[in-house]
Amino acid sequence: MKKRVLSAIQPTGDMHLGNYFGAVKNWVDLQKDYDCTYGVVDYHAITMPYDPVKLRQTTWDFITNLLAVGVEANHLFIQSLVPEHTELCWIFNCFTSYGQLTRMTQFKDKSKESKGEDGFISAGLLDYPVLQAADILIYRADYVPVGKDQEQHLELARNIALRFNNQVGKEYFVLPETLFTETPKILSTADPTRKMSKSAGEKHHINVFADPQVIRKQIKSAVTDTGDTPAGKMSPGVANLFELLKACGEKEAYDALMSTYRAGQLKYVDLKETVGEALVKLTTPFRERKKELQASKKEVKEQIKASSAEIRKRAQETVKEVKELAGLINVKY
Ligand code: AMP
Ligand code: TRP
Repeated sequence: MKKRVLSAIQPTGDMHLGNYFGAVKNWVDLQKDYDCTYGVVDYHAITMPYDPVKLRQTTWDFITNLLAVGVEANHLFIQSLVPEHTELCWIFNCFTSYGQLTRMTQFKDKSKESKGEDGFISAGLLDYPVLQAADILIYRADYVPVGKDQEQHLELARNIALRFNNQVGKEYFVLPETLFTETPKILSTADPTRKMSKSAGEKHHINVFADPQVIRKQIKSAVTDTGDTPAGKMSPGVANLFELLKACGEKEAYDALMSTYRAGQLKYVDLKETVGEALVKLTTPFRERKKELQASKKEVKEQIKASSAEIRKRAQETVKEVKELAGLINVKY
């Protein structure tokens, strides 16, 4: 039997190369060897200030983007279509140490970010790791592919699972493990001292679905060497371009350009040209697939509603057993 993998991502309209190479490509690759379930987690997206008018559209856009790059529809669900996550979250709240939640690094960081003019920080933001634990444990996931920043949240999920198991006197939940796979950290091409991200602004991210001429132009204007890199060391901008080339799977071109670099004969224009073309080659099928999906929006929605309903059955099964174990009374469906 294949091991179970669960991962989730908050809906943001765009998908940039950092998201793709840092997370989503891995999702696509894992589908071959694992029993994968992937969520677009909109309940998480409302923990920070947001625009209710835009959220639903953003969620569907993100689904389209995931499908376009190769995530299979039957592995995908939208979190608000599986409301059991929130029910399990409530139960888990009562198995979670309040102190542990207040110590979460991401909570500390995000509560600074979230604090608007009125100083509002939602209780949902504090509670969000418990919902994440529910996302994971509800499918009895063995592995959770995430970045290092999520390590603390996975630790919490294991603590909750253990506490629950101890309390009910049964090894009910599997303790999920983090699956750290080697995913590159992509830097902003406009400022290679920071990571590629949407929040930093237009110049600082390259959209996976951008037109070829836009991609070429963004790579062409990438910062290479600002002159402050110590002699004999590769500058972050150049290293980032090499990283992109490797991430595109262009091993031969990578090796050839790397030996040119080592011989001290690399022309940055050649590197940029190659990286630009590699990205265009990689993303062209994605762009085409996205166009097709956009032309059949209704079918896409139906498909994802159906896959979410199918995935929901597994979630319902878990919640039913948990309620039984926890001494709660079950609804008869
Ligand atoms: P975010 O939208 O920033 O929450 O990121 C969603 C996912 O993409 C997370 O799993 C991140 O680890 C990944 N990611 C975001 N930006 C980058 C980047 N510049 N390089 C690598 N991975 C990234
Ligand atoms: N908290 C994760 C992030 O910020 C997203 C997430 C929500 C998640 N639920 C999850 C990741 C379950 C893995 C498993 O990136």
